[in-house]
Amino acid sequence: MNITNDIISAYIDNLYVNGNAKLEELREFAEKEHVPIILKDTEKLLKVILKLKEPARILEIGTAVGYSSCVFTDCCGCDVITIESDDETADAAQLNIENLGFADHIEVKRGDARTVIASLDQNEKFDILFVDAAKSHYREFWDLAMPLMNDGSMVICDNVLMKGMTASDQYDTRGRYKTSIKKMRRFIDYINSLDYADTTVLAVGDGISISLIDKRKYDNRI
Ligand SMILES: C[S@@+](CC[C@H](N)C(=O)[O-])C[C@H]1O[C@@H](n2cnc3c(N)ncnc32)[C@H](O)[C@@H]1O
Repeated sequence: MNITNDIISAYIDNLYVNGNAKLEELREFAEKEHVPIILKDTEKLLKVILKLKEPARILEIGTAVGYSSCVFTDCCGCDVITIESDDETADAAQLNIENLGFADHIEVKRGDARTVIASLDQNEKFDILFVDAAKSHYREFWDLAMPLMNDGSMVICDNVLMKGMTASDQYDTRGRYKTSIKKMRRFIDYINSLDYADTTVLAVGDGISISLIDKRKYDNRI
């Protein structure tokens, strides 16, 4: 289900042009194999943000086949550390990253992000955190990664509207996702309550939250 009007979503998707033939091929492969990668309108929004922000380093949680990491580096030449818990998927990502010529910029770390984040060099900070993994752990990812963020950095979380279910139980037609819906609502309330983060939730793709981080405020509160 699209979280916005299907006609409008189709119209916006029709405006999409990738601009990198190898990336386009990777998108087509991922879509054919039902690998969940960032949606087209999400990709376009992220690229605009990256061009404005010009990040030197991005931390990504949830690599899949490496598509979004490659989009980031392709867009602004940034370095990316991306974390993937599934070994086979991480192997595929590594191959794709090499094939696209981005191996010098993108490092795939294997394991559960909740463990891997703690093992990263705590002195090397990031300009953007992109969260796109198990939705029930978003709060943990946020809390663990926050000490690694620069002042003025951004945290971008994908899929926060969960096909509309975060906004209303009516979209959870079989009542299957009660627990993850509750967790996502709590996460959204949490990030909106923080005095060191200015957050907006946008109905783009599957819902995306964008938070601007005042690191000095964050440091002063702990
Ligand atoms: C939606 S996909 C990522 C898509 C990718 N960001 C893109 O747009 O190309 C989510 C990925 O997160 C991985 N994942 C789920 N939970 C994780 C965790 N706790 N730590 C690291 N990776 C995780 C899954 O194996 C899956 O490959």
